[in-house]
Amino acid sequence: MNMLAQACETAPFYAAQGRECELFAQAHAARLPLLIKGPTGCGKTRLVEHMAARLNRPLITVSCHDDLSAADLVGRHLIAGGDTRWCDGPLTRAVREGAICYLDEVVEARKDTTVVLHPLADDRRVLPIERTGEQIAAAPGFMLVISYNPGYQNLLKGLKPSTRQRFVALALDYPTPEIEARIVQAESGCTADMAAQLVWLAQALRRLTDHDLEESASTRLLVMAARLAVAGLPLADAVQAAVIAALSDDGETVAALAEVAAAVLGHA
Ligand SMILES: Nc1ncnc2c1ncn2[C@@H]1O[C@H](COP(=O)(O)OP(=O)(O)OP(=O)(O)O)[C@@H](O)[C@H]1O
Ligand SMILES: [Mg+2]
Repeated sequence: MNMLAQACETAPFYAAQGRECELFAQAHAARLPLLIKGPTGCGKTRLVEHMAARLNRPLITVSCHDDLSAADLVGRHLIAGGDTRWCDGPLTRAVREGAICYLDEVVEARKDTTVVLHPLADDRRVLPIERTGEQIAAAPGFMLVISYNPGYQNLLKGLKPSTRQRFVALALDYPTPEIEARIVQAESGCTADMAAQLVWLAQALRRLTDHDLEESASTRLLVMAARLAVAGLPLADAVQAAVIAALSDDGETVAALAEVAAAVLGHA
């Protein structure tokens, strides 16, 4: 067995929707940063975990939020026992180690924060550290991966074109029913029949999305429902807890979703 095939066997399970694994590997080889977009729970994080293992790179993940400063990424001086010493942030560590740095929900970060990514994300591949005056060249193997969910995007929060246009973009969506059923089964240990029912339910719920819900039933929610059912909860209750109640707080919407679930699962 060659090394890549071996790494693939031990990597976290990821069922590909198309040629995204190849694109990821090629972007890594070409030293290009990657932007992954797609709805919640569609496999973005899992793809990055899977590919980091296959490419044999350490993975450093940062969940972005609106308070995330450039110093949170790059590092800061810390005072300990009267001494000041520099402490690398996660981005700086990844640059030094040649790791894959994954910035999750990057549109949440402040605009001045994303600007520190620019010299790293183009062909300079350097991280200037203003505070220390250092310019760190990215070690071989370093890759910047960012993700965001276009569904939550609003006009204020979109990425600046000058940031976007430094990244190769990959759009993911929920997988086809066959692949999604395989994922639900593999991730929960449920039967093929149960996985098929849950995926069928997701298809029906996703058709409703446009009017009532911000986001529809994700692959993640189906996996959670299947896990509850495997743990012994009746499937209808598992769906109620893991899918319906998770999707909405609005009484009328919950009732409408429950009706669809009952019809699809045959408990009407
Ligand atoms: N293609 C896939 N292969 C294997 N598992 C998957 C896949 N897609 C989704 N899953 C399952 O769904 C769960 C959620 O996926 P993941 O965390 O990658 O979603 P995400 O796109 O990063 O969501 P978010 O935007 O909310 O962070 C995973 O833990 C896994 O169980
Ligand atoms: Mg994620």
